[in-house]
Amino acid sequence: MTDYATTHRTSIENPEEFWAQAAEGIDWETRWDSVLSEPSPGIFRWFSGGILNTCYNALDRHVERGRGDQAAVIYDSPVTDTKRRISYSELLADVATFAGVLAENGVTRGDRVIVYMPMIPEAIVAVLACARLGAVHSVVFGGFAANELATRIDDARPRVIVSASCGIEPTRLVEYKPLLDAAIDLANHKPDTCIVLQRPQVEAGMVAGRDVDWHEAAATATPGDCVFVEATDPLYLLYTSGTTGQPKGIVRDNGGHAVALHWSMKNIYGVEPGEVYWAASDIGWVVGHSYIIYGPLLHGNTTVLYEGKPVGTPDAGAFWRVAAEHGVATMFTAPTAFRAIKQRDPDGKLIGDYDLSKMRALFLAGERCDPDTLHWAEDRLGIPVIDHWWQTETGWAIAANCLGIELLPVKAGSVGPAAPGWDVRCLNPDGSAVKSGDVGAIACKLPLPPGTLPGLWQAEERFRSSYLETFPGFYETGDAGFIDDDGYIHVMSRTDDVINVAGHRLSTGAIEEVLAGHPDVAECAVIGASDKLKGQLPVGFVVLKAGVSRAPADIVAEVIAMVREHVGPVAAFKNAVVVERLPKTRSGKILRSTMRSIADGSEYRVPATIEDGVVLDEVETALKAIGYGST
Ligand code: COA
Ligand code: AMP
Repeated sequence: MTDYATTHRTSIENPEEFWAQAAEGIDWETRWDSVLSEPSPGIFRWFSGGILNTCYNALDRHVERGRGDQAAVIYDSPVTDTKRRISYSELLADVATFAGVLAENGVTRGDRVIVYMPMIPEAIVAVLACARLGAVHSVVFGGFAANELATRIDDARPRVIVSASCGIEPTRLVEYKPLLDAAIDLANHKPDTCIVLQRPQVEAGMVAGRDVDWHEAAATATPGDCVFVEATDPLYLLYTSGTTGQPKGIVRDNGGHAVALHWSMKNIYGVEPGEVYWAASDIGWVVGHSYIIYGPLLHGNTTVLYEGKPVGTPDAGAFWRVAAEHGVATMFTAPTAFRAIKQRDPDGKLIGDYDLSKMRALFLAGERCDPDTLHWAEDRLGIPVIDHWWQTETGWAIAANCLGIELLPVKAGSVGPAAPGWDVRCLNPDGSAVKSGDVGAIACKLPLPPGTLPGLWQAEERFRSSYLETFPGFYETGDAGFIDDDGYIHVMSRTDDVINVAGHRLSTGAIEEVLAGHPDVAECAVIGASDKLKGQLPVGFVVLKAGVSRAPADIVAEVIAMVREHVGPVAAFKNAVVVERLPKTRSGKILRSTMRSIADGSEYRVPATIEDGVVLDEVETALKAIGYGST
């Protein structure tokens, strides 16, 4: 068995040989012409000329080789009191049928299909059916509002949208269909067809001539066969927050993605085919794409699809029940979930009620993991707790302590060393390397390994300007941090206006656009203030137009409602204040990071370029009134 250092070195010195070997884990209809190519400067492609089908690799080949009776998916839904085991054979049959439904509704290779669904098995079926046809799925998270869905519809221009009548939150039903109808009304692009799964909890109203009932269509469909596609063809688009209100459409290819995710299951997560793997995330996020759906299924694992929360469904022992009942070997979630559990069950007493002897490791990602939470989990579970770092863009971990290669010492506060395939550097603004231990912008030397974004959907210029231009020859992650003497990476903060709320990535710019749309608001700013449970929470500042005499509290209530309406409940935007002025530099730049320091009660230096220092006192007073800042 090779050690981490050798594996990492080999992957950097000889990436083509390294990934060609990993590609043996995938079934190819035709092998590639070149492992790695650079069709235009800075733009790389993996496995060009290779032909494969991702769904075939996730399902058919396992059934052909004797895994048909093994559970592919265990659906565990405390919110509907349902548990269902779906074997590889059953999942394949359902996916082929739904591929037939899509095909009968005109979906062919390269067409986009938006999937707007809750955490139910049919969401996995819809995604894999797209992959089967060589169509491009784009899953939209259920917690987004109609407006966000409309933006994605206009960018992806789907032929079909697949949805369900409702999602189920612990305290309410989320009716998806009215949101979908509103989004289609708002969008310029109109899909030909919406395929709607009626859940028993809510019956969705259907639009004649456009909407199709899932079950009725499936009852008569002819199963669809795999359409083999180029390795470089897009498998999916996943929209993520950038600095503006226009989300970025991250593209994922078929070949590199299948190779990297298959490789990661054994090498990063240390699981063998046949074992149960559980990513407690949502299929609307990249973690859900990679480790609820594709990674486990490509590797022949059983994946757990959990429609519930870490707490409240019914209690803070929910994760332990699921892990024990289904024999989970490796679990993956966001630190915020553990903070929620810790808050309700500080001593972890509920853990003792369950047999977790099969669980070998817990992986955390999605936001910075505070050392307290990491130690709490380590002490209570008695297994390695591994924080690892990645992004929607990368599709899998940039840095991780790779359990399947060599378990290195865990350092709380660090995301581990660079994963194989990743050459990670910390840079000064001029692109030179910072000294070991100094904070800099984290960048990754090109080419990035397979499975990472080949580009943004129909936006090559934005791809180059967002990621490739600041540090020529590198991918700019947008994260800042440092690399210590042992090569461990510490991710500290973002370098842009992206915030992370309960592991969900949000753009303060997008929220600001909504606030600015209020008729009484002259100017506004949104910052991410620290929060004990969710990591960060957005806080808004609004300056009213001259002459507005309405009560500030009413305006605050209205902007909060507007953000919920336009961005969605997932933004968790509940705090805003009216201020006389925003603190700015003399050149007019809003001092967001100073405002953030005030909100967090941390020390800050008054910038020399400030226009008027008194404004900071006003900000402090306003923040104190809503419970922020030093007390
Ligand atoms: N559909 C519709 N609404 C949704 C939703 C969905 N799929 N997911 C969340 N929401 C809503 C919630 O109901 C909540 O609405 P509310 O304001 O009416 O209460 C709002 O969006 C915020 O949701 P959330 O951030 O989940 O907060 P919460 O208070 O309901 O739960 C945690 C807090 C910590 C339990 C929860 O955030 C959690 O489980 N986080 C894990 C993070 C995770 O999986 N991250 C993925 C990356 S790995
Ligand atoms: P997303 O694209 O939603 O997965 O969000 C990616 C961003 O989340 C990263 O750029 C980081 O800012 C943050 N992030 C993800 N994982 C970690 C981690 N383990 N530690 C610190 N930040 C993280």
